[in-house]
Amino acid sequence: MSLTAASNSTTSDFPARLRDVAAAVETRLEALLSQPHGHQSVIFEAARYAALGGGKRLRPFLTVETARMLGGPLDQALSVGCALECLHVYSLVHDDLPCMDDDDLRRGKPTVHRAYDDAIAVLAGDALLTRSFGILGEVDLPADIRVKLVAELAVSGGMSGMIGGQVVDITVAEGERDEALITDLQAMKTGALIDFAVRAGGYVAGASETELAALSAYARDMGLAFQIQDDILDVTGDAETVGKAVGKDADLGKATFVSILGLEGARHRAKELGEQAKNRLEPWNKDAQTLRDTVDFVLERQH
Ligand code: IPE
Ligand code: IPE
Ligand code: MG
Ligand code: MG
Ligand code: MG
Repeated sequence: MSLTAASNSTTSDFPARLRDVAAAVETRLEALLSQPHGHQSVIFEAARYAALGGGKRLRPFLTVETARMLGGPLDQALSVGCALECLHVYSLVHDDLPCMDDDDLRRGKPTVHRAYDDAIAVLAGDALLTRSFGILGEVDLPADIRVKLVAELAVSGGMSGMIGGQVVDITVAEGERDEALITDLQAMKTGALIDFAVRAGGYVAGASETELAALSAYARDMGLAFQIQDDILDVTGDAETVGKAVGKDADLGKATFVSILGLEGARHRAKELGEQAKNRLEPWNKDAQTLRDTVDFVLERQH
């Protein structure tokens, strides 16, 4: 399935649009992660097991919808979003390993190291990470834009971005925790990839520096709200709905907004950030309705 003009016309129905894009992501990923072959076929199987058939696909949705808002090419935005989704899935596969959060359930099914083993899970994560950059290199966009996307994704997923956040997540001492540190941690661990998701839609559509700055401001606020809701669901959700184990953050002594602000405080902060995120979209007025609706989706989501 591709994102055709027909699927573009389901404008104001947010759930339908989310479903449409998720279906297009599934089909594109299916094609990008080729069928198992050779003596190494288990690694294709494990990468496909991790990446296909689940997840909200929020990051590629943001890339596609930002590109759509700016009048950019949707098919290319879809491929770029799928590259990001591969990197995101790698981060989840490694996050779940016994040496990290030690989780058995992801997207409603056994984690990769449970379905296969630790070594295959490490390699499947590595494979998705390298595939991610391969996809960006191949996408049908001018070379200068592809290089920008590659360089920026390397930063967003790297030591000052997602990996940096994961390191603080597992190393920060109890006494060091305050709101500023947790904000920093979450901005890196989750915010950086969400920022990339939105900016990538901007790059695909040829956005100006001013537009990219406003898009980033939106993404940073929304990304924080998104991670706060993840932390809230860890306390209030049930594993069947959330699709992963709950109650883990308190067990593992994680630094979350809930741990310092309490549930109500965290809810309030997420709402505030959500409002702020929507205000960042003023330059696009009515055209930004889907990105505004995404904020509500992020705050209200139960999985
Ligand atoms: C989970 O991300 C990890 C976090 C950064 C909170 P998502 O909640 O987007 O997970 P999927 O992709 O829908 O499974
Ligand atoms: C992980 O955060 C974010 C990543 C970079 C993978 P969490 O550890 O809170 O994510 P979940 O709750 O396991 O999805
Ligand atoms: Mg974690
Ligand atoms: Mg985790
Ligand atoms: Mg979590």
